[in-house]
Amino acid sequence: MNITIRQLKVFEAVARHLSFTRAARELHLTQPAVSMQIKQLEGNAGLKLFEQMGKQTYLTEAGIEMYHYSRVIAQQLDEAGEVLEQLKGVHRGKLTISVASTANYFVTRLLAAFSRQYDKTTFSLDVTNRETLLRQLENNEPDLVIMGKPPEDRDLKAEEFMKNPLVVIAAPGHPLVGVKGIPLDRLQQETFVVREQGSGTWIAMQRFFAEHKVDLSTGMEMTSNEAIKQAVEAGLGLGIVSIHTLSLELETRRLVVLNIQSFPILRHWYLVHRRGKRLSPVAEAFRQFVFEKSHSQFDINK
Ligand code: PGA
Repeated sequence: MNITIRQLKVFEAVARHLSFTRAARELHLTQPAVSMQIKQLEGNAGLKLFEQMGKQTYLTEAGIEMYHYSRVIAQQLDEAGEVLEQLKGVHRGKLTISVASTANYFVTRLLAAFSRQYDKTTFSLDVTNRETLLRQLENNEPDLVIMGKPPEDRDLKAEEFMKNPLVVIAAPGHPLVGVKGIPLDRLQQETFVVREQGSGTWIAMQRFFAEHKVDLSTGMEMTSNEAIKQAVEAGLGLGIVSIHTLSLELETRRLVVLNIQSFPILRHWYLVHRRGKRLSPVAEAFRQFVFEKSHSQFDINK
């Protein structure tokens, strides 16, 4: 097949957006120029790559195959560019990182500290749930992912770098505040506001209470740690969150961590990427930076 990199890039953008117009805008081309490139590519391939139904653009079966390869080739080209940059001895480039919602409480601080050291780098940060992170890893999209322990998978490389204790929080007026060594089964009398199913926090909490044979009554599920903290503060129940989400509320005593037997639930944070992925120089520098900071005096939570 005799295709050009330019055709491939145009194809990748149209396939990603499923829109000729949006691809044209992204690439700073006119729409007829985009259509022309795709036509030539289809001519070369001898197959249609897109089909139009009404106003909607779809990938054909051949288009889906082509999209897979075009992304791999685009990633390889980016990698080649990064490697050449490295040979120039410059840590410049773009870091694409995706993190679990809870990790965002310290990752932005880490990125800020990192960018003071490597001021030529730019970032793209996606804060999302565990399910999406696993899909992104499967597609090899981000340079690095920060999340709770990923599932055992030979294709993933996961490196533990910091503790992530989960604690029970209450409003300051709650009767259990100040009580030492609250037995775990006492929690069965309380209502809990918890994170959504599929979040790392939810999975850890379920596992912990199942192991300890405690039947928790979960009143409400919320997709954000902030919402849980607000709900607990408003007296809707107790909450279970990572200690990393809490610094300000504890300082101002808007929330209190309860002293419960067998608590905290101990999780860890992991840096994850696909095994065999060649990390770009900036991703490798960030990886080392994370380990350095988590083992040094730098308080990742401040
Ligand atoms: P979460 O991730 O924000 O999805 O709960 C944190 C974790 O995995 O512990």
